[in-house]
Amino acid sequence: MTEVTLTINGQRIAARVEPRTHLADFLREEQRLTGTHLGCEQGVCGACTILLDGAPARACLTFAAACNGADIRTVEGFGDDLLMARLREAFSAEHALQCGFCTPGMLISAYDVVRRLPGADEPRIRRELSGNLCRCTGYMGIIAAVTRVLAEATAEERAAAVTPRPIAAAGAGDEPDIPSVAAPSLRSASPRRPSWWARLKARFGVGE
Ligand code: FES
Ligand code: FES
Repeated sequence: MTEVTLTINGQRIAARVEPRTHLADFLREEQRLTGTHLGCEQGVCGACTILLDGAPARACLTFAAACNGADIRTVEGFGDDLLMARLREAFSAEHALQCGFCTPGMLISAYDVVRRLPGADEPRIRRELSGNLCRCTGYMGIIAAVTRVLAEATAEERAAAVTPRPIAAAGAGDEPDIPSVAAPSLRSASPRRPSWWARLKARFGVGE
């Protein structure tokens, strides 16, 4: 067993952990923080995403024993944080979840985007969230929710965010350009929707 001292959601804790125990199991089974979900357990789906020292990390790929001195923030640990409150509201308003399995990890990654990249555009949001898989929504509601919060969040709310990760000084252009796939330019019926929002309509008759 390895002794670790770490901070989880603002609380300092000491624990003894098996060297092979990953952080997600430690959070769920020993700390009873079951908001961190486990999907693939091999770093692919992003359901287990938490903030580790302010940056998103896969809890299923992180050994708890390696977290001595770390600052961990799970989806339960945001309290009245205004940015996370905005995200929760926007996810609900934009239908950004169905079964909700991906939602804790998605919220953590989205929080990092709105905190760190105030100028992120839609392709950048898609790229930033590409490590979080959702089997239900088709992603459009998720992107709409993050877009809405990016437009509405204030600099004060970003500055008061719980994570110490630095904010990009000049919007979305803070890393080498990665080619992105252009989103379809379908016109929206509603002015609130981004231009890439598409609604498919079809009719069919059923014979008697
Ligand atoms: Fe960790 Fe899927 S459970 S990435
Ligand atoms: Fe079901 Fe995303 S809402 S997996």
